[in-house]
Amino acid sequence: MEIAKLERYRPALHFSPKQNWMNDPNGLVFFKGEYHLFFQHNPNDSIWGPMHWGHAVSKDLIKWEELDIALYPDELGTIFSGSAVVDWHNTSGFFPEEPGLVAIFTHHLEDEDHTPSVQTQSLAYSHDDGRTWVKYKGNPVLTHPTKIDFRDPKVFWHQPSHKWVMVLATGQTISIYSSPNLKDWKFESEFGEDVGSHDGVWECPDLFELSIENSNEKKWVLIVSIGDNPQLDSGSRTQYFVGSFDGNKFVPEHDEIKWLDHGKDNYAGVSFSDIPKEDGRRIYLGWMSNWRYANEVPTEGWRSQMTLPRELILRETGGDFHIVQKVVRELDTYLTSKEDINNVIIGTEDTNIYELDSEYAKIELILESEDASQYGLAIHHTKTQYTSITIDTKDNVLLLDRKNSGKVDFSDNFSRTQKVKLEDTNQIQLQIIMDSSSLELFINDGEQALTSLVYPDKACESISLFASEGMANVVHGKFSIPSID
Ligand code: FRU
Repeated sequence: MEIAKLERYRPALHFSPKQNWMNDPNGLVFFKGEYHLFFQHNPNDSIWGPMHWGHAVSKDLIKWEELDIALYPDELGTIFSGSAVVDWHNTSGFFPEEPGLVAIFTHHLEDEDHTPSVQTQSLAYSHDDGRTWVKYKGNPVLTHPTKIDFRDPKVFWHQPSHKWVMVLATGQTISIYSSPNLKDWKFESEFGEDVGSHDGVWECPDLFELSIENSNEKKWVLIVSIGDNPQLDSGSRTQYFVGSFDGNKFVPEHDEIKWLDHGKDNYAGVSFSDIPKEDGRRIYLGWMSNWRYANEVPTEGWRSQMTLPRELILRETGGDFHIVQKVVRELDTYLTSKEDINNVIIGTEDTNIYELDSEYAKIELILESEDASQYGLAIHHTKTQYTSITIDTKDNVLLLDRKNSGKVDFSDNFSRTQKVKLEDTNQIQLQIIMDSSSLELFINDGEQALTSLVYPDKACESISLFASEGMANVVHGKFSIPSID
């Protein structure tokens, strides 16, 4: 594959595989100063195929170094999604000398004719900081006599009950298991039959405790990705539940469905294990694509990228708890401020244009409607390609339109407008991270997120601000571009 083709649309700030196919993030773990990102990988083609675990490491969550493949298929199957933990106290017996990493993953076995498939859970461990892996001889460690969808184990140490806990996607429920040693697993409970969205198969769960902002209290959060349902427009997406967990059962405290992201392109995300207590953050990252068109996106020789790592925070508003997402602060060192603006009136006649001419950019805006029915911004990738973000004060929605953003014709679904319902459209705070082929939008201090791929010829030439049927005001704006190394 020619270098030029490989590099087209290559992100600068987001992890993408050097070559070939990638989907879910796997085994996210922090150990000895390194963040590990394993990922669903087909090293032989740029479409989904026999799964391996690819591997990358980073010291700051932004700049990644891709390493050798960590896990290869074997006689028990290909290697589907899963997690990794540090076994600090040698509960597994794999680490008589010093603590190391254990990966807990799904073995996926398919017959030649592709039916029926069998999914089981297995272990691998590493004595050299994740560089090489040994599969456990006693694999698989968890099987099910009848369930076919039985995958994506996410494991954590539950201190109060002093045991490992695994959440596993089991059809359209999440099953919870526990273990003293990662090898022997006991069924605890099954969650989700009659709550949440059942638009598709449940995948890639994650369960963790989150601190409530400005409080000493915590609550448990269960994240569940929902697979693509061809009958619906939504494609694959992610929901979450807020509630309690006692080591046996997760109990949600709300009936309504909560979506983690309002954009099309954030799926199968999970959080890092073993981030030190002194740091205290819960850091999440997702696969920046959608099963509806993931295999068709117009990159050549490689496919897919991850979202930026985001800190998750639990915020209370009027008795309701929801996740707030903020891109990790480590990103800031890659950016430098180019222009600050204050109190600029945007009228129907005016076009306020700010040149950025950059391969990536961060755009921060506080906008206010004077009397405009719609206002917002367009990110001009080139003279003819743009993505628009419109705030509609009549319908109280934000609309992201990528119809004219560049290459869109690989899927009918890709051109559809993405929408976020807003409580108040008189004032809005926006933060946008624009990379060569994606745009991550955070609304009102991360209250809502919208993650969206785009395939323009260039990332960001300029931005313009607009208002229609009235005026709007830029209370504050800040545009940042790459810092010089
Ligand atoms: C989610 C998923 C997982 C599975 C993996 C296979 O995107 O379908 O459920 O383990 O991808 O690549």
